[in-house]
Amino acid sequence: MALLVPFVLVAYVALYAVAFSIPPLHSLPNFLGAENAQDAQKPLQNPLDAWIQREESIALDNLLANVAPGGRNVRDAVKGSVIASPSRQHPNYFYQWVRDAAITTSTLVNLYADDPSSQLSANLSDILDDYARLQYRIQHTKNPSGSFDDLSGLGEPKFEADGSPFVGSWGRPQRDGPALRAITLMEYLRAYNASHPYMWTSDGADSWFKPLYDASMPSHSIIKADLEYVSHYWNQTGFDLWEEVDGLHFFTAMVQLRALREGADLALAFNDTGAAEWYSKQATLLKKFLQLFWDARRGHLIETLNSHRGGLDCALLLGSLHGYPSLYADHAPIYSPYSDEVLVSLLALVQDQRTRFPINAAPSSEDDETVLEGVGIGRYPEDVYDGYGTDQRGGNPWFLCTASAAEVLYRTASELTSSSNLTITATGLPFYEALLSSSSLQPEVDETYGPSDTIFHSIIDRLRSIGDEFIEVIKIHTDAKGSLSEQFDRVTGYERGANDLTWSYGAFLQAIRARKGL
Ligand code: NOJ
Ligand code: NOJ
Repeated sequence: MALLVPFVLVAYVALYAVAFSIPPLHSLPNFLGAENAQDAQKPLQNPLDAWIQREESIALDNLLANVAPGGRNVRDAVKGSVIASPSRQHPNYFYQWVRDAAITTSTLVNLYADDPSSQLSANLSDILDDYARLQYRIQHTKNPSGSFDDLSGLGEPKFEADGSPFVGSWGRPQRDGPALRAITLMEYLRAYNASHPYMWTSDGADSWFKPLYDASMPSHSIIKADLEYVSHYWNQTGFDLWEEVDGLHFFTAMVQLRALREGADLALAFNDTGAAEWYSKQATLLKKFLQLFWDARRGHLIETLNSHRGGLDCALLLGSLHGYPSLYADHAPIYSPYSDEVLVSLLALVQDQRTRFPINAAPSSEDDETVLEGVGIGRYPEDVYDGYGTDQRGGNPWFLCTASAAEVLYRTASELTSSSNLTITATGLPFYEALLSSSSLQPEVDETYGPSDTIFHSIIDRLRSIGDEFIEVIKIHTDAKGSLSEQFDRVTGYERGANDLTWSYGAFLQAIRARKGL
């Protein structure tokens, strides 16, 4: 894998050069060491690996195509905007959603952090700076959710492509946006600082860091404004990430907790001790509040408190992924992707979606309740949004949800590999039984397994191979050009909903990144 990365980067840079018409890079051969040059000629080992390698470049190229300036699909969007999809009608997704933009920009931050001195990263850094500048403007734009004065306007979920407010009726406010944006910008600030260590104490420090974080109040710095918003509004209801239900939500709370914890660390780094204490205090309360989302009777997490829905939702997976502490942080994760609560929720969701969608019907395993296999996953069982409008027959599988299931499994495999230790609890047992159902191995409650146990290796292998099954589903439903829309049809399997959904590409890239970590 270590060898693959530079090779893939070359592909990225090449594609990037095409998309943005930058001059060819003279330093390219540096990426491609002698070993990699040989590697490139070796036949690839399996068709899935080969497809992933190709799709990875396409996904990054198509993601960047939706980012202004420079993106070929968004020529008329304001500099720094990340458009949800180029689709302008049926459905119209030609807007900047705060959530979609922050999530997909965090993928760009990861790429930047991988190799900050590359030409790709120089271009990414410009994009990230533009993104940050536009977020400042958006934060200060009066909109139907409110204004900057009391920060209520930060809960506005989407803006026009030119940066002006969207004034149509909508499910607002949505309180995950400011948390996600703070997470992405804090990650960028840390990555940038790590690659420019002299910056912190240099003369230029203020002009680079201050717009992002500054202790003064009222908080006009972007990250601090978002942290103030999160810390003051987390216990109020708002619309969920699917923009449909007003209430208190797992996904929202998970990303808010991460933002507040990492925000407290950042505040300390800037000697803003009062703020650090306040954010930590709110984080402690929020962490306690999150316990309410575990439903022992149902045996899984629920996405929204006191909802008429059953609670299974791919937002549970997304919350565990986006709420997971940053590389730069040192917080004990809660509801991590490898926690028992998240894994049994994944199992329950997969079992529901498996029989719900005709394309998932697997003759090999019929309705066997104890099986875990890769299938197309949608948002939640009760969904009726079909990508264009409402369809009472129900929703469809989504690329980003299917990718999130793969990512959870890959990250669990990585965690087990590095911790060398797995204790099976009564809560987690159903997941591990289903995982191993095709073998004769039986996990036992209260047993702890490690590298000297056969079952430990089987668990890691199965996590990876079932993760690959989810990626295989994405592969099957991707069109010939490698484009990913929002959904794929529950009956025909063809793509539907907004085309070239930025978030579909981001979620795919994140899953593949986790796969490389194995
Ligand atoms: C558009 C929203 O973005 C989507 O989440 C929702 O399901 C549909 N409208 C239907 O309300
Ligand atoms: C509908 C999804 O439900 C929502 O989460 C997303 O922000 C918008 N589409 C834009 O992609």
